[in-house]
Amino acid sequence: MAAETLTIIDNRTGKKYEIPVRDGAINASDLRQIRVSEEDFGLMSYDPAFMNTASCQSKISYIDGDRGILRYRGYPIEQLAEKSSYLETAYLILYGELPTKAQLDDWSYNVTHHSILHENIKKFIDGFHHDAHPMGMLVSAVGALSTFYTDAKHIFDAESRKKQTYRLIAKMPTLAGFAYRHSIGMPYSYPDNDLSYTGNFLNMLFKMTEIKYKPNPVIEKAFDVLFILHADHEQNCSTSAMRGVGSSHVDPYCAVAAAAAALYGPLHGGANEAVLRMLMEIGSKSKVPEFIKAVKEGHGKLMGFGHRVYKNYDPRAKIIKQIADSVFEVTGRNPLLDIALELERIALEDDYFIKRKLYPNVDFYSGLIYQSIGLAMDMFPVLFAIPRTSGWVAQWEEMLLDSEQKIARPRQIYKGAAKRDYVPITARK
Ligand code: SDX
Repeated sequence: MAAETLTIIDNRTGKKYEIPVRDGAINASDLRQIRVSEEDFGLMSYDPAFMNTASCQSKISYIDGDRGILRYRGYPIEQLAEKSSYLETAYLILYGELPTKAQLDDWSYNVTHHSILHENIKKFIDGFHHDAHPMGMLVSAVGALSTFYTDAKHIFDAESRKKQTYRLIAKMPTLAGFAYRHSIGMPYSYPDNDLSYTGNFLNMLFKMTEIKYKPNPVIEKAFDVLFILHADHEQNCSTSAMRGVGSSHVDPYCAVAAAAAALYGPLHGGANEAVLRMLMEIGSKSKVPEFIKAVKEGHGKLMGFGHRVYKNYDPRAKIIKQIADSVFEVTGRNPLLDIALELERIALEDDYFIKRKLYPNVDFYSGLIYQSIGLAMDMFPVLFAIPRTSGWVAQWEEMLLDSEQKIARPRQIYKGAAKRDYVPITARK
């Protein structure tokens, strides 16, 4: 049987090296032995944006980009979307197995009963401008939770991690609800423990003067499936931020704040907001060819299209498209859907996109749903951050418990000035 190794000949020295191959990868530190002199640091791998670098071993999500496959802990996303609930899926992502009824009841009880925020957080949210972006408020507020729960610093105490996990999963919707209500000048709507996870979230968004908010079951279910679809996704930008910041052993609230900040970017979770702004800018189906032409000439991107890993249709986008139909039966069809469908139709036939394997991703259709239930566009990335919190926390805990992990501190290739002496200001040109 062929050896599971690479044989490397360094033509600079004529030396030969055997490098082991494990799980389809080499250990980058095995390259350090390849030197041209005793003083040489040794060979490094150079991989800006980590296009071909595994930062960790993980058992949480699995993506096959060419075949458009996504599984959480081995379960296909299609089955979880159809049969599971967000809280059950969050438990699976966090603890590795689908919960028994007793485990799910205990998990749901604890998440439900940690949804209230310290009253001082209201003063914190009140301090923002009326038009503050809800993601800016969410990033700040979740970081601020670290000042309320100082026990969160005990990151190697399993009971403390479990309690912070309850708090983070439970309080992200409340923080999001408070941020939204602040942005529309409405009084805060408090959690209602009688409602489901997504029903309660809708309550904190939309409750008016009625004594008890009654979520529309179609919207409640749609949100639950959307939350399942957004729960985790391997080592995406925000999860890498969660792991990287968490590797300094900071508390999980500050790490989630960093992850949410990464998600906010328009190339990542901010894309769902950017898609809606793009569709509104295009304005009508007739303008789609002109917009596609401009993109192909390098003027901007087709937001909601393309993916670092998926080189096929994002399986989540397919499911979201089906959810949209059920929601539009309740809310009325979002007229921007026609522009989105025309963009997709043309892009999937156009060589520019085919050659680059650009397909709709999770962000292409989700914003149409959020807009149709009346949410402002700047809330859309918030609706990504809430469910992804379960993935961030699961990945953070996996990193903490991984004996191969330590503080993340990449090397660099220095291309700057050589050593030079200080020049007094009088002598500078
Ligand atoms: C998410 O990583 C994850 O898993 C993320 C995510 C998750 O669940 O966590 O799936 C969520 O972030 C989805 C992606 C949302 N972002 C967008 O929809 C923004 C638009 N998409 C692009 O910016 C882009 O596709 C990325 C950022 C998603 C991926 O970028 P890559 O892998 O770095 O690819 P690239 O920028 O190198 O593009 C390769 C080529 C380039 O053309 P050339 O230079 O070869 O000529 O494809 C082009 C790009 O210009 N291209 C696009 C495009 N995306 C890539 N051209 C037009 N429109 C696009 N959307």
